[in-house]
Amino acid sequence: MTHWSARSWREKPIQQQPTYPDTEQLKTVEHQLKMFPPLVFAEEIRALRSQLGRVSQGHGFLLQGGDCAETFADFNAPKIRDTFKVILQMAIVLTFAGSCPVTKVARMAGQYAKPRSSDLETIDGIALPSYRGDIINGPEFTAAARVPDAQRMLQAYHHSAATLNLLRAFAQGGLADLHKVHKWNMSFVAANPLKEKYLEVAEQIQSALQFMEVVGINSETNSALHETQLFTSHEALLLPYEEALTRTDTLTGLPYDCSAHMIWIGERTRQLDHAHVEFMRGIHNPIGVKIGPTTTPDDVIRLLDALNPNNEPGRMTFITRMGADNLGKALPALVRRVQAEGRDVVWSSDPMHGNTVKAENGLKTRNFDAIHQELRQFFAVHQAEGTHPGGVHLEMTGEDVTECTGGAYQISEQDLTQRYRTQCDPRLNADQVLELAFLVADSLREARQGRG
Ligand code: PEP
Ligand code: CO
Repeated sequence: MTHWSARSWREKPIQQQPTYPDTEQLKTVEHQLKMFPPLVFAEEIRALRSQLGRVSQGHGFLLQGGDCAETFADFNAPKIRDTFKVILQMAIVLTFAGSCPVTKVARMAGQYAKPRSSDLETIDGIALPSYRGDIINGPEFTAAARVPDAQRMLQAYHHSAATLNLLRAFAQGGLADLHKVHKWNMSFVAANPLKEKYLEVAEQIQSALQFMEVVGINSETNSALHETQLFTSHEALLLPYEEALTRTDTLTGLPYDCSAHMIWIGERTRQLDHAHVEFMRGIHNPIGVKIGPTTTPDDVIRLLDALNPNNEPGRMTFITRMGADNLGKALPALVRRVQAEGRDVVWSSDPMHGNTVKAENGLKTRNFDAIHQELRQFFAVHQAEGTHPGGVHLEMTGEDVTECTGGAYQISEQDLTQRYRTQCDPRLNADQVLELAFLVADSLREARQGRG
């Protein structure tokens, strides 16, 4: 194996990177970031890695979700709180249904860089460089906004630090109290047009909480009912930023990317001999790799050889994003090969990115039923192969947006314009996310019963 350093990715071909016009400024920013404190600590990263190790062995479930792209404009406490709340609401349903611990990982506090399918965006005959996320350039459709600006990395760092600060406060300060979270779910169920469907699970959770109360397990006697742990994650796309936040842990002497607990490589940048795989192979965080419908069993094994040569549990999560029509055909061969070779992975399903369509009015959208359908197939494949459906990866928000069609409130393509706020891909809104949680709960329960 060739020598690795936090900057050895610079020797490799790379895709989806900005070209900064001011290279001196870029160097200054990189230097500043290297001096800044880490955003997360190695010990926390190891805790997540060991939780994911348990998930890979069938004893847990990974819930990962948040915005497609965080933005500086939408940076405020209510937004962070509402997404935090809906992640916890979903987690309680999944914990109960799966009878297993749910590891919560937010796509937050750093999800600022976006891969794009086209380098240019054309509106009314005018072509400008594409928006690549707030850490790189601005979303406004002007030539000035679209110039990559290295200073934005500093802004992204400070926004991430403040977001993390609030998330830590919420997790420890009472907002995560299980009784409170359950009450929010009861209000969701009571108001929902499909409430009969969800009432049974909600009432079972209610009984479980009441039983614990009776035997003296409550928020005062047991901190686990009052506090939670929420990890952070983002796509590690902008490598100068990730390199600058990579630190050698004093305890173990190993390098960790301290920009987030978990980071992932996207479907577009996971070429074996390219820069992103090179960077990821040397850091010791748990990592994800997104895989689409054309991925072959050999691709998967080569990625594992490169990124987890010692087959360590909790290191690798494959996030499948194949589309409702493709997953049933494409996933079994991959799962079988990984099984046959005895490789340790968490299988997680991103039912969003393979189901993006254009509505008649030109807006990007995703249909609730297609998303649900991909998830059901994901569970069915793992059931058939005798493997563990380890997690879900969602683009979602706690806000009442209209970006994905369908769900109990039957959002139509015409409704999309009402509250379409995403800078990038369409997200499930709070009601749609919870509906999905209750529907996934059924699949998880079946999977659990299947395991005996
Ligand atoms: C994303 O997660 O927002 C994304 C771009 O995913 P993918 O790389 O799977 O397309
Ligand atoms: Co996206």
